[in-house]
Amino acid sequence: MENRVLSGMRPTGQLHLGHYHGVLKNWLVLQNEYDSYFFVADWHAFTTHYSDKIDLESNVTEMVVDWLAAGINPNTSTIFVQSKVPEHAELHLLLSMITPLPWLERVPSYKDQQEKLKTKDLGTYGFLGYPLLQSADILIYKAGLVPVGEDQVAHIELTREVARRFNYVYGREADFEEKAEIAITKMGKKQAKSYRTLRKAYQETGDDEALIRAQAMLKEQQNITLGDRERLLGYIEGVGRIILPEPESLLTKASKMPGLDGQKMSKSYGNTISLRDSADEIEVKIKRMPTDPARVKLTDAGDPEKCPVWQLHKVYSDEQTCDWVKDGCVHAKMGCIECKQPVIEGVQAELLPMQERIAKYQADPSYIKQIIHDGSQRARNVAKETMTEVREAMGIIY
Ligand code: TRP
Ligand code: SF4
Repeated sequence: MENRVLSGMRPTGQLHLGHYHGVLKNWLVLQNEYDSYFFVADWHAFTTHYSDKIDLESNVTEMVVDWLAAGINPNTSTIFVQSKVPEHAELHLLLSMITPLPWLERVPSYKDQQEKLKTKDLGTYGFLGYPLLQSADILIYKAGLVPVGEDQVAHIELTREVARRFNYVYGREADFEEKAEIAITKMGKKQAKSYRTLRKAYQETGDDEALIRAQAMLKEQQNITLGDRERLLGYIEGVGRIILPEPESLLTKASKMPGLDGQKMSKSYGNTISLRDSADEIEVKIKRMPTDPARVKLTDAGDPEKCPVWQLHKVYSDEQTCDWVKDGCVHAKMGCIECKQPVIEGVQAELLPMQERIAKYQADPSYIKQIIHDGSQRARNVAKETMTEVREAMGIIY
């Protein structure tokens, strides 16, 4: 469905400002515009951390708490946990039957991660299948849009290829055209006519606008069955039934959130400020940040462009403060500790209200359990519907 967004995060550690600025703020915007599904990819955590003693229970709970504290709305978004919807595993298994091994071996993250994480055992079947499990996560909700970072785009591309192959293999019917033609008439005269016009426009001139309009029209149809809708979707493009629609990635701009050392903020660089760091921890971390090495003494002039603190000013300070920093740094009018103060206060002010909400949620574990339970139930209902169609298409109907 074009208006459904789905994204997930692996519960492998605490959320930090990089997640907030890079991912969560984006989700906050999306949840107001789309039917949004956000989930904790707990099974995915095992693909790289199967022998690590991570406390999944607290990681999963904390992740959901942090999402809520950041403003994800459980009433409008569906928040759930992957392992609570076991249908993901069933779809993953079935998709594995039609996925050529080289498609998985060719996914760039497969070799990259193996090179990068030499200390980890990434020679497992599960790790190779990581992107295919991700495909199942997406396809089981027929999500149209998947907000992801650059590193995940290849996984969405794989998902599209797998969906196409699934539809090709299992969406073909001997009497497809006949059934599609009958389905057209079921829509009523007026709708049938505009469907035919749009289909013709798409097939004869490749008019994408017509394709989108025809798809939108089918979504509105009340008087045709799901199977017929899939037929008519496929019939526009001249393929078989489209049981699993291809998703698109919604590329999240690379997070501008710099870490404490000026590199991108990331757990693996050890340069993070956690969403749960106390005011004191924030102060200590920022006070310890390296600055322009040219500023040894107060009287040494500096260059903000060579200083990671300046990167944080760009995120947290207004124009006036930024001017004050530039002037003070270049003309050696102030010390680095003084310069860091507005950043310390900016980060603290950003995190304080979030941390108050975190404390409130943590005081009420049964509420969080309920959110996870309800969201997972909602997700599972959708997943079950898709699996019924998938099983039928594959002939698993006994
Ligand atoms: N692989 C994603 C990551 O590491 C997490 C993820 C799992 C995901 N399944 C997904 C993201 C489905 C989007 C859609 O960030
Ligand atoms: Fe960095 Fe500010 Fe010190 Fe200049 S004055 S080096 S910008 S911390």
